[in-house]
Parts: sequence; C-alpha cells; structure tokens
Amino acid sequence: MLELKNLFVEVENKPVLKNINLSISSGGIMVLFGPNGSGKSTLIKAVMGFEGYKVTKGEIIVNGKKVNGLSVDERAKLGAGIMFQHPPKVRGVKLAQISEYLCGDNNKIERLAKELSLEEHLERDINSGFSGGEMKRSELFQLALQGADLLLLDEPESGVDIENISIMGAVLNKYLADKRKSALIITHTGYILDYIKAKSGCLLIDGELWCSGKNPKDMFEEIKEEGYEHCRECHGKN
Ligand SMILES: Nc1ncnc2c1ncn2[C@@H]1O[C@H](COP(=O)(O)OP(=O)(O)OP(=O)(O)O)[C@@H](O)[C@H]1O
Ligand SMILES: [Mg+2]
Repeated sequence: MLELKNLFVEVENKPVLKNINLSISSGGIMVLFGPNGSGKSTLIKAVMGFEGYKVTKGEIIVNGKKVNGLSVDERAKLGAGIMFQHPPKVRGVKLAQISEYLCGDNNKIERLAKELSLEEHLERDINSGFSGGEMKRSELFQLALQGADLLLLDEPESGVDIENISIMGAVLNKYLADKRKSALIITHTGYILDYIKAKSGCLLIDGELWCSGKNPKDMFEEIKEEGYEHCRECHGKN
C-alpha cells in the first residue's frame, strides 16, 4: 500500500528526510515515533504530495503506483488520505458540503456524525472555531467519508480528551478492521495504541528511520523509560 525507497526530502532547501525506506502492506498498521522536529509530519506531507516538500531522491509508491510528481488529488484518488497535525480551517465550505462531496451517502454521513458527536458541526465552516478535540474528530470524520485506503494520521489523539480518544479509537479500529485499509500513525502520547491493533513501529530521529518493525507498545515503553536520547546513543553504536 505504501513503499518508500531511498527517500530524501528537502523543505526550504533544508534536507529533512534522509534515505527513508519503509513498507506498509494492505491491512498493515505502522506507528511512527520520534522527537519534535525529527521530520514525521514532513514524511506524511511528502507522501501526500504537498507543495514545498521536495523529493530530491528516491521513490514514493502508493497502492502500487509511483506517485513522485503526482498532485495531491491524484494521490487521494489512489487511496491516500491525511489527518493533519494542525488541521486547516476552510472558510466558506460547510462540513456538510464536503461530507456530501466525499461520500454522497446521507445515512452514512449521519451515522458517522453521530458516532463522532459532530451533528451540530455539520452546518459550520470546516474546522472554523472548532475546539482542538472537535477538529481532530472532524478530520477523522472526513477521512472515513473519503474512504481512504492508506490513512496518514498525524497525532490523531493530540489535544483530545480521554473519552473522545476512546470514541475515535473505536471508529478507527472498526475502519481498519477492513483488511484493504492500512495506516501510518504518528503518536507522542501512545494513547491510540490501546485502540488499534498495530504490530509494527518505527522511529524517526534527525530525519533518519530506525528500528523498523519492532512492536510499537514495547518501543513506546522504552521511549518513556529511557527517552529519545537513549535512542540516539543506541544508534550511534550500531
Ligand atoms: N514548511 C516548512 N518551512 C520550513 N521548515 C519546515 C517546514 N516544514 C517543516 N520544516 C522543518 O523541518 C523539520 C521537521 O519538521 P516536522 O514538522 O516534520 O517535524 P515533526 O517530527 O513532525 O515534529 P513534531 O513532533 O513537533 O510535530 C523542522 O525543523 C521544521 O522546522
Ligand atoms: Mg509533526
């Protein structure tokens, strides 16, 4: 579903990602850890094809197709979908309007809006004036309506209260139970790991990817206990 081969990415002429190799098969869930500024958001924005994230070397393959040079909407049509760390506000477009555009099945829209407590937000402009947690639920709502096959989730639970993490976790777990769906999930808090069945994790430090394929819960415990500095030292020795 996603393959990154020897990927190098620059932002504003600054090399951010260095020689990234990563593979997520259909049905696979990969958890991405890493300290602030290590390049996690850059990685998923480069996969999605946002302007300013320049691939200087390597390949991005989505759903079996090389997407280097393709636009964001072409990548979305291949099945990629993003949940932003900092979701944009879209003035002049109501959440209900984008929902109909993305899905067209009113029953599904209503059911999901209810599940994610967004019924009263449908007539408001997308994310405009939404609280932090509401914005994250609205992001998940749109992604599920899009029906994306490759979910790129940038800190889905950050700023979300415990009860709502549980609601979002349940929606996500149900969505990912479909073995055609796969996900790359960035987390700092690790809360989301209690709700999804992720078998592999990886670690991004200073733009380089390490420890691919380790159990994400074990990795998170190690990071909590020892910190990212320990990871840096460990890699220095390897
Ligand atoms: N549009 C941009 N313009 C300039 N620098 C950028 C831009 N996007 C990312 N960077 C820089 O690239 C580096 C990686 O940023 P990125 O947002 O990918 O980090 P991150 O791992 O997601 O961090 P966090 O955990 O804080 O979200 C940072 O030094 C950041 O300042
Ligand atoms: Mg980030």
